Amino acid sequence: MDSNVIAGRTGAVKGSQYAGLVYMPCTEANGFFPELPKGKVDLIYLCSPNNPTGAVATREQLKLFVDYALKHKAVIIYDAAYASFIADPELPRTIFEVEGAKSCALEINSFSKEAGFTGVRLGWAVVPKDLVCEDGEPGKLNRLWLRRQTTMFNGASNIVQDGGVAILSERGQKECREIIAYYMNNARVIREGLESIGIKVFGGVNAPYLWMKTPNGLPSWDFFDKLLSEAHVVGTPGSGFGPAGEGYFRLSAFGHAEDIQRAVASIKSNLKI
Ligand SMILES: Cc1ncc(COP(=O)(O)O)c(C=O)c1O
Repeated sequence: MDSNVIAGRTGAVKGSQYAGLVYMPCTEANGFFPELPKGKVDLIYLCSPNNPTGAVATREQLKLFVDYALKHKAVIIYDAAYASFIADPELPRTIFEVEGAKSCALEINSFSKEAGFTGVRLGWAVVPKDLVCEDGEPGKLNRLWLRRQTTMFNGASNIVQDGGVAILSERGQKECREIIAYYMNNARVIREGLESIGIKVFGGVNAPYLWMKTPNGLPSWDFFDKLLSEAHVVGTPGSGFGPAGEGYFRLSAFGHAEDIQRAVASIKSNLKI
């Protein structure tokens, strides 16, 4: 949303929403996967595994969007930054597992999550040559992307690229899998701890984020204050991700296991629900 606002592609802002954008709420009722837009849109942003809900799209769900995009000549920007956290072999790790996606989707990904490169900075985009957009023949978007990258970006430094090569080595991949398993164990500890005190939690199985429903329907920021003052734990208020996040709270499994265990123990014994 913000990149479109900055580029001047939106209209006036009303509350927290901009004219010219179609918002796609991800709610408990729709299993945290959005409904198809009612009319035609040009660009669709999908993020799976999702930040913040931790939900992962199935092949069938993605197929609905791919079919929609092909029909309406829309382009899907698929953010798969957390793909390496998917453990379930039935779940797609890339939108290109869905037939037809090469003609309507581009995918972005990153070593930020898989390998802790958040500060180092290395990511990639897959812009298929088959990709078409409204009034554009196959290849046009790929050429535009190449031009953009070679003029406005000019590439990551050699040092950083060497780090990326190390990640792709057998040893690098093994180490990444180990650290992901470590974080996913943290996720399990958080989920089980919260569930043991009756809190409803989503995500945290094929994604490093847990999306919890605030107890007693508390607004997200009220729960932030409560969690901080009673349990001395901080997290992210769901309302910060958009209106559909109100009444939810995001917790992350990215941390040292000892800290996570202390935080969960504190929530269990100090949070007054
Ligand atoms: C869904 C998602 N995509 C992308 C990013 C950013 O990735 P990068 O560090 O490569 O810019 C994040 C970081 O929080 C994210 O949550």
